[in-house]
Amino acid sequence: MRSPIPDYLTEVLDSTREDASGNVADYIPELARANPDVAAIALATVEGSVYCVGDAEQEFSIQSMSKPFTYALALADRGIEAVGERIGVEPSGEAFNEISLEAGTGRPLNPMINAGAIAAHSLVRADSAAERDRRVLEHYSAFAGRELGIAEEVFESEQSTGHRNLGLGHLMKSFGIIDDDPVDVVNGYIRQCSVAVTVRDLALMAATLANSGVQPVTGQRVVDAYATRHVLSVMTSCGMYDAAGDWLTTVGIPAKSGVAGGIIGVLPGQVGVAVFSPRLDAHGNSARGIRMMERISRDLGMHLM
Ligand code: DON
Repeated sequence: MRSPIPDYLTEVLDSTREDASGNVADYIPELARANPDVAAIALATVEGSVYCVGDAEQEFSIQSMSKPFTYALALADRGIEAVGERIGVEPSGEAFNEISLEAGTGRPLNPMINAGAIAAHSLVRADSAAERDRRVLEHYSAFAGRELGIAEEVFESEQSTGHRNLGLGHLMKSFGIIDDDPVDVVNGYIRQCSVAVTVRDLALMAATLANSGVQPVTGQRVVDAYATRHVLSVMTSCGMYDAAGDWLTTVGIPAKSGVAGGIIGVLPGQVGVAVFSPRLDAHGNSARGIRMMERISRDLGMHLM
């Protein structure tokens, strides 16, 4: 029997197969080992239907796509106002690993860049670093609707090379943005970036945001509707870093990318989409993934404006 949605997604995958532009991330040694040619797409509706094509069983590290989900947990734990005192909501116009701290206060400009994501991780309530790691993983698992795990080899690889993130952690500790030990906090942040996911998991995580915080398959309310709206707003202005304007004009939906090659997009009230292809453009966003998202947004009329 013909299945129009998977057939369509396969066609999108095939139409971008020629695009071999960009390079696999290599500043985290383990990511440099990725097969650059794998590619997958998943789409999940707010009613809980999920469609996957390509290398959809392949697990890869969530990386910066973790940032909106930790931010959501920090908002749930502390409230929007208290989080806002430590992390802004303004686009930085700079690369994801830039210092991008407000002059004088040391407040990171937004939670989608590394500095803001490290601060958001520190705001997740916990009595110990291990408890914080556990809560973060449980929270992501609730979004995905299955128990997720850590890609330990990615964690160790990034931990041994994460000097810039450690620097950001120390700097924010000196400004009083981070209360806890910055080494523990940065390790926890690196651990959250090392959570292993498939495009199916990511599409469901995105669909939970599309569904105002209720996981479409399990029916669990993972985050409240007000915090979800806040997270989606920040994803819209800051999720694609210094390419956020290009993304908003061409694809036109809230999104977040990760350096392992994933991108999630959220069409509020309707669907979550996830694409995966490891070669990155100069902004650290999946080059082929952007092509796939542009095509899907255009064909399905997803652009919000
Ligand atoms: O902190 C880092 O550098 C990585 N763990 C995550 C960076 C990332 O995914 C940037 N996004 N495209």
